Amino acid sequence: VACLSMAAPVLAAGMEGKVVGFSQIGSESGWRAAETTLTQNQAKERGIDLKFADAQQKQENQIKAVRGFIAQGVDAILIAPVVATGWDDVLAEAKDAEIPVVLLDRQIEAPEDLYLTAVTSDQVHEGKVAGDWLVADVGDKACKVVELQGTTGSSPAINRKQGFEEAIAGHDNITIARSQTGDFTRTKGKEVMESFIKAENGGKDICAVYAHNDDMAVGAIQAIKEAGLKPGTDIKIVSIDAVPDIFLAMAEGEANATVELTPDMAGPAFDVLAAYLADGTAPAKWIQTESKLFTQADDPKAVYEAKKGLGY
Ligand code: AHR
Repeated sequence: VACLSMAAPVLAAGMEGKVVGFSQIGSESGWRAAETTLTQNQAKERGIDLKFADAQQKQENQIKAVRGFIAQGVDAILIAPVVATGWDDVLAEAKDAEIPVVLLDRQIEAPEDLYLTAVTSDQVHEGKVAGDWLVADVGDKACKVVELQGTTGSSPAINRKQGFEEAIAGHDNITIARSQTGDFTRTKGKEVMESFIKAENGGKDICAVYAHNDDMAVGAIQAIKEAGLKPGTDIKIVSIDAVPDIFLAMAEGEANATVELTPDMAGPAFDVLAAYLADGTAPAKWIQTESKLFTQADDPKAVYEAKKGLGY
């Protein structure tokens, strides 16, 4: 009788048996869902016991979850902070308990000694890349832009706005006519876009949409189609994230450009935590992820196929 033996799975080194609490914002976007999936996958591959808490977009729920993790005596804590301010007290409690905290995907306004590191993109740069694309695309033509902002008070909403404004500064033909939050969701992106269309001559006066994430852009695309206009042609669409759905829209000619944000923030976070927990090696305070521009020229159908399954 043949004897079958199964090889034990090979675990990425350093974090096996560690308990890590993860305070996630919620599930507002396709990107966020992918980040959750990839964090769980990374934890599994490394033999980490991940305690997951979904804050349903509320900072108070995040603070409660972090206090719970501290009480349990976890080895480390990951926080994707919904807003930029209001973290000092709970971070000081984690520091007192000697539990390292790593911030994922959003920055905060707090003293740097309260957390180990932050794994994020340069969000001002993301906004600038989006704005530079529009400046080049529009040339000398007059262009009224409508902006769909992310969650009010969140670092990506603040920084992506700033970066875009920096890019269009000095190009007086491009103006931001309207700007409102769509809370990073598809539903609100659509709702707000409908109100922009109403206010701007049925959409005919709008030249471009700048959305702080792809999900809001997808909602806006829907609203534009329902208003009888062609997204991507009558109204240009530029956004951030590079989730698979925006590549489908690009393949249809309905979206124009997106700036990629990797959903794998946990991989680098677990790598530095492994070193820190082993011998106290302190990482850089900021681990910056890449921000790559994709346009319709980048074979969107192929990118869509490649991205599907990578946590999305
Ligand atoms: O913090 C990253 C942002 O949060 C993503 O761009 C957006 O989709 C998400 O909700």
